[in-house]
Amino acid sequence: MLSFKEYYDKCKKIYSDKFNEFDIFDKVNLHIFNPNDAGNEISVPDNYLKLIDIISKKISDKIEKNKGTVSEQLYIGVHDFSDIEELNLLGNHFTKQMEKKVYESYAIVDHLHIYRSICTEKKKLSSWLWHNDNSVNEQLKIMVYLTDVDGKSGPLNTLVKNNLPLKLKSSKISPDNLGQPKFLGSRVPDEFISMAKSSGWEQYPIKGDKGTYILFDQNMIHKATIPKHGKHRDVLIFNFRPYHKNVKNKMKFVKSMGYGGDVKTFSTDIN
Ligand SMILES: [Fe+2]
Repeated sequence: MLSFKEYYDKCKKIYSDKFNEFDIFDKVNLHIFNPNDAGNEISVPDNYLKLIDIISKKISDKIEKNKGTVSEQLYIGVHDFSDIEELNLLGNHFTKQMEKKVYESYAIVDHLHIYRSICTEKKKLSSWLWHNDNSVNEQLKIMVYLTDVDGKSGPLNTLVKNNLPLKLKSSKISPDNLGQPKFLGSRVPDEFISMAKSSGWEQYPIKGDKGTYILFDQNMIHKATIPKHGKHRDVLIFNFRPYHKNVKNKMKFVKSMGYGGDVKTFSTDIN
């Protein structure tokens, strides 16, 4: 099977004759967009804030009525969102932006994770501990805040220096050679974090009003945090990958948090 780099190079050639040799790992870092700013590199559809309002109400409704949701220790995931048409509009818009401005190839939304971080005393685990996803380098995410996120509502935390996040390159070469992550289970040990902090990396919580959207490389070191009492945080996370075909509906293959397979890799089969 093709390596991820070979596959992505093919995708770029299919998209344009102006093949551009760049490394996606170097190109994408952490990009936080305020929807009220003009000229954002990644644009939003018309009436974006209204769209976010509609989506957040529909998500809230599902969570409050337990419709198509699954409760986990630290969050409530929305597994069934097929009836929220507005998500298709948003996903298609963002993917087209990613194709043109980021990938320079066709792309799709492979996964859409929607969840509410909840206030709880339960033990922190998985994404609530410092980690990098060790996803394929070509997998990128846009996270959209569906609620206002201040320091108390469970912001995503990263480590930054000179406005750049601390990233670890993926160990994954190809679907049949996934390598070994730098750290077991991709959990970053406390000693590593302390060392990074003493060399000038600062913990940076990403705050932002409802509608803030964040493009990031999931191989940056990050962690989710638990909201304080009386607060919660709702998010959409679009997980993109390059694709070798120009599919009309970029959300055609989207999978929810209920997907049982490995979300941190993808097939490079070109047929
Ligand atoms: Fe993560």
